[in-house]
Amino acid sequence: FPLKPYNTFGIDVKAKLFARFDSVEELQELLQMPELKQEPKLILGGGSNLLFTKDFDGLVLQNGIKGVEKVEEDQAYVYLKAGGGEVWHEFVLQTLELDLGGIENLSLIPGTVGAAPLQNIGAYGVELKDVFHELEAVNIETGEVRAFDNQACRFGYRESVFKNELKGQFIVTHVTFKLHKKHTLNTSYGAIKTTLEEMQVQDPSIHHVSAAVCHIRQSKLPDPKQIGNAGSFFKNPEIPKEQFEALQQQYPTIPSYPVSQTTVKVPAGWLIEQCGWKGKVIDNYGVHKHQALVLVNYGGAKGEDIRKLAFEVIASVEEKFGIRLSPEVNIM
Ligand code: EPU
Repeated sequence: FPLKPYNTFGIDVKAKLFARFDSVEELQELLQMPELKQEPKLILGGGSNLLFTKDFDGLVLQNGIKGVEKVEEDQAYVYLKAGGGEVWHEFVLQTLELDLGGIENLSLIPGTVGAAPLQNIGAYGVELKDVFHELEAVNIETGEVRAFDNQACRFGYRESVFKNELKGQFIVTHVTFKLHKKHTLNTSYGAIKTTLEEMQVQDPSIHHVSAAVCHIRQSKLPDPKQIGNAGSFFKNPEIPKEQFEALQQQYPTIPSYPVSQTTVKVPAGWLIEQCGWKGKVIDNYGVHKHQALVLVNYGGAKGEDIRKLAFEVIASVEEKFGIRLSPEVNIM
């Protein structure tokens, strides 16, 4: 079964088996089938955070659960429950239409609602965990449905319990969001402010913030429909303050964000650019010209080539700065 249309990197690999489910019951039936029980399983959302390096010798399950419903409302919030197979950006557009605030900064992130909590998607000062209420997931072994609240998901920077202790054990079927009726805009990210100014907006709404975010993303990040990619390939590393201060002596322009009293985050894109990788093209793949954190497939590249490139990037950043980058993308 060809997986090329199911991964935004556009890697041409195959899966032994493929099935799509449109409800929890359908998923439970699939999981119970004796001939599928032993197969390794891979759950696909939008395939936007994955790099395939070889064929998948098992069952690929595509989440097709759709639907968005209001499950609760109080003075301040509306609770919207969305099917895991909903396309993330389409869900964001629905919340804007309903005049609900909280995820406008997460506009245009590729992928699905069901995949979003796995890596606690984030952009422009907002993370999924800020508006997450709970999710429902099916246990792959037992078929049982279990609810996870915010705490149970153990969200961190691009992290959750589903990438760690519970990796490969659950399939997220529904996610409930707690969205604001009264909006508090987050325009802390500099480029949002400047874009809103350029748009000559006096009193911005969630619609304006969403439009600004779309504009910024489109100017920096390659559209996976045109150039294969999976967004940021690496996480921004967190390093001890002392190490940062030592680097600052040598590289006075090194950017950073404070994380705690003792650590700072450094943009990996800057480190990679300093190593000369930005815009580098090797045959039919390379490093994006507008954002060094993004590796790209110009068409026909092998996942293994891109993986090798990623490790060359890691090695050169480590050599120059003594910082070891870790991939954000799931390498299969
Ligand atoms: N920078 C460079 N050169 C580059 C890229 C970045 O010098 O080629 C430096 C600049 O100083 C820039 C800073 O890095 O000001 C930050 O860059 P940017 O605002 O583009 O954000 P990022 O830290 O590179 C993170 C997320 C993105 C998210 C943006 C905006 C991670 C791994 N990535 O990128 O998320 O959209 O912030 O909030 O945290 C993703 O996860 O796939 C993703 C795209």
